[in-house]
Amino acid sequence: MQIVLATRNQHKAVELERILLELDLQFELLTVDKFPDAPEVEETENTFEGNALLKARALCNFTGLPAIADDSGICIDALEGSPGVLSARWSGATENIDRANVDLVLAQTVSVPEGQRGAQFQCAAVAVFPDGREFVSLGSMPGALLTAPRGSNGFGYDPIFVPDGFTKTTAEMSASDKDEISHRGIALRKLAQLLKEG
Ligand code: IMP
Repeated sequence: MQIVLATRNQHKAVELERILLELDLQFELLTVDKFPDAPEVEETENTFEGNALLKARALCNFTGLPAIADDSGICIDALEGSPGVLSARWSGATENIDRANVDLVLAQTVSVPEGQRGAQFQCAAVAVFPDGREFVSLGSMPGALLTAPRGSNGFGYDPIFVPDGFTKTTAEMSASDKDEISHRGIALRKLAQLLKEG
């Protein structure tokens, strides 16, 4: 059976595919690029789960195939959980978006002392089937924000995030080391288990 991945974010698609391919799912993975007319979904919900379900339901309706979507972001303690679901568009920039988002978060936390720079990445991964079945799983990765970027792997806020128990940022880790502990890795591994159980 085929299953479609509902993301146009190239970086996220790479991570999603990489993690899902390791999981021995009984599905052939298609990406949304195969459906150029699929509707662009506005993320209007205020939870990761709500937005992931919006994206997966829309693609499942459009293609008639089961769809997997994730929604994710970083929640910063000193910013009362922001940017959260707004992580992708926090700075409002339309080019060099990751860099602009990182710069804004660093500026907003410039006076937050070490010890109070806690943050966590969160991810909701969902699968929606044409027969109406819906599966939801959540993952998170706690850590702390640096005051300047380090590393060039990954994407988004990776260069300023050090997971708890590590000294490297997620932008300094290898892809497989990040997948092992990441919010997306955790959520997708749980989702794969739910799918296998039916
Ligand atoms: P969305 O899930 O497409 O709404 O976008 C999530 C946004 O959160 C990304 O564009 C990044 O800015 C941020 N984000 C989510 N996961 C990660 C990650 O693993 N590393 C760095 N940034 C992330």
